[in-house]
Amino acid sequence: MNKALRKAIIAGNWKMNKTRPEAKELLEAIKPLVANADGKVEVVACVPFTNLETAVNATAGSNIKIGAENVHYEKSGAFTGEISADMLTEIGVTYVVIGHSERRQYFAETDETVNKRTKAALAAGLLPIVCVGEMLAEREAGITSEIVGKQIKLDLAGLTAEDVKKTVIAYEPVWAIGTGKTATADQAEEVCAFIRATIASLYDQATADAVTIQYGGSMNAKNCAELLAKPNVDGGLIGGASLKADDFNVIVQAAVNG
Ligand code: PGA
Repeated sequence: MNKALRKAIIAGNWKMNKTRPEAKELLEAIKPLVANADGKVEVVACVPFTNLETAVNATAGSNIKIGAENVHYEKSGAFTGEISADMLTEIGVTYVVIGHSERRQYFAETDETVNKRTKAALAAGLLPIVCVGEMLAEREAGITSEIVGKQIKLDLAGLTAEDVKKTVIAYEPVWAIGTGKTATADQAEEVCAFIRATIASLYDQATADAVTIQYGGSMNAKNCAELLAKPNVDGGLIGGASLKADDFNVIVQAAVNG
């Protein structure tokens, strides 16, 4: 397993935060700080739909890529309130978060719809960041591998090896999201390595070695270096700490140095 084989990606997940002027201000602050990551670490900001165009314009010509936080699986039609993959690519969006635990918990997202969204994203040329992770009760019951393994199989079902290589996996233990409770670096490494092994068994080792696997869940300026130093942790999906330019930058720099 060789970390150099794959792209390190630090992605902010802004969730339901920031108006357009606030989004512009935050991105303008982040831009010069992370410019040195160009060519070393992919820096991404996943922002609410209403901020996408502002964010694409604010980061034009910089090394920051923009992502959405969800996408619908149909191309168009009677799906009130939904946004298609073509609508996202048309305004210059590069990435999309799919199957975040908040969508699974509060908006009835299932592995089946995660799979459909992932396929739609890839077909439109978007790079999916597919989120998986166990709940606290599942970890305590000792079934983390079973849960995460099942999510990986179902979420990636029917994807070609080439598609899987373009797909980013974010391992986000649900109990660590927004709680200030981070998985230890060893816990994060254990599950990220398990995810890679699962992909190797479903496809092959070369495919598994090419997939960027992020850790997410209370990653911050203090704990990022230890997490990002692990051999199977190729980046981070960062919520709270991505809303502060300086904190986000510390995480990007840890990945540059890691
Ligand atoms: P957090 O969120 O960093 O605020 O825990 C991570 C995420 O939900 O992606």
